[in-house]
Amino acid sequence: MGRLFLSPPCVGEEERMAVRAAFDSNYVAPCGPQVDEFERLLAAHAGRRHAVALASGTAALDLAMAEYGVGTEWTVIAPTLTFMATVGPAWHRGARVVFVDCDRTGNMDPRLLEQALDELDASRRAMVVSVDLYGRCAQTDEIAEIAARRGAVFVSDAAEAVGARHRGRDGAERPSGAAGALAVYSFNGNKIVTTSGGGALLTDDEGVAARARKRSQQSREPFPWYEHVEVGYNYRLSNILAAIGIAQLGKLGKFIERRAAIKAEYARRFEMLPPVEGENNWLSVALMPTRGRRDAALAALAAADIEARPVWKPLHMQPVFRGCKVYGGAVAEELFARGLCLPSGSGMTGEDVARVVAALEK
Ligand SMILES: Cc1ncc(COP(=O)(O)O)c(C=O)c1O
Repeated sequence: MGRLFLSPPCVGEEERMAVRAAFDSNYVAPCGPQVDEFERLLAAHAGRRHAVALASGTAALDLAMAEYGVGTEWTVIAPTLTFMATVGPAWHRGARVVFVDCDRTGNMDPRLLEQALDELDASRRAMVVSVDLYGRCAQTDEIAEIAARRGAVFVSDAAEAVGARHRGRDGAERPSGAAGALAVYSFNGNKIVTTSGGGALLTDDEGVAARARKRSQQSREPFPWYEHVEVGYNYRLSNILAAIGIAQLGKLGKFIERRAAIKAEYARRFEMLPPVEGENNWLSVALMPTRGRRDAALAALAAADIEARPVWKPLHMQPVFRGCKVYGGAVAEELFARGLCLPSGSGMTGEDVARVVAALEK
């Protein structure tokens, strides 16, 4: 019995053939027909006019911040229960970072966001970054409204939520990635759709997409020589990797179904993070009765060669963000103490799930 991973890539013949086609086209470069096609598919998937394919979700967040010139006079407000990449680019740009607690679903509490924005010094420019935690859409209608009232830019970090759907207050269903002035996807190796490493920036604004694309390729001006009026980045997605993404997108519906079935199996035995309508079931999160039981469960799984992980350690508890302001925090701290991400890969068999359950029950 081999090691059981948390969320390994689920790739096969389709991806192999797609990579081969990209290779044979000789666009073994960060441009080419597969990049263009992947962008077209992503935009259609997210209900956006434009998608810019990039080397990572972190790069997409960085370009979202570059678009608005986020810097030292900015405050970036984000949920505390998330991966550090949500605020990493803001930190590097010298912005002030403020954290907001979540509600019991794990997503940002809009009431606390409102308080954070109300208390923000009027001289500061503000960006709100919401997160669709573990593939479960945040309350983006409320967040967009609260951000707009303060004149804050709203960016949706949907890195974990490719394929998730969200019912808005008008009753209409929208894909993750449809919210915010800009939204971000990740295609890291552990995500539901992977390109091994990759990401995308989604927008309805043609100018924003064009600038992001240009910045992702060193901000080269249209001259025969390399001409630059600004300093850019090297953030474009490889054509070979875009080919993997195209094949993966074609399987996304099946991946979501499989992960939902895995989660349902766990839910028959364990308390789970409360469900959110339309989630993509990226990771199944069980709630153990206490921190001690969580640690015991982790140890039991490790002994059975099964990878599991506590939920994100809240960012306000991270040494690097000591001193950052946090609104609330107790809910995220409790989820960190009790929450355990269980193996959820789209390729898991029934026996794999049974192995996890047996190790946990023991
Ligand atoms: C919430 C969140 N934001 C951003 C990222 C960054 O994406 P990437 O790893 O593709 O840079 C990730 C995942 O890795 C994530 O989970």
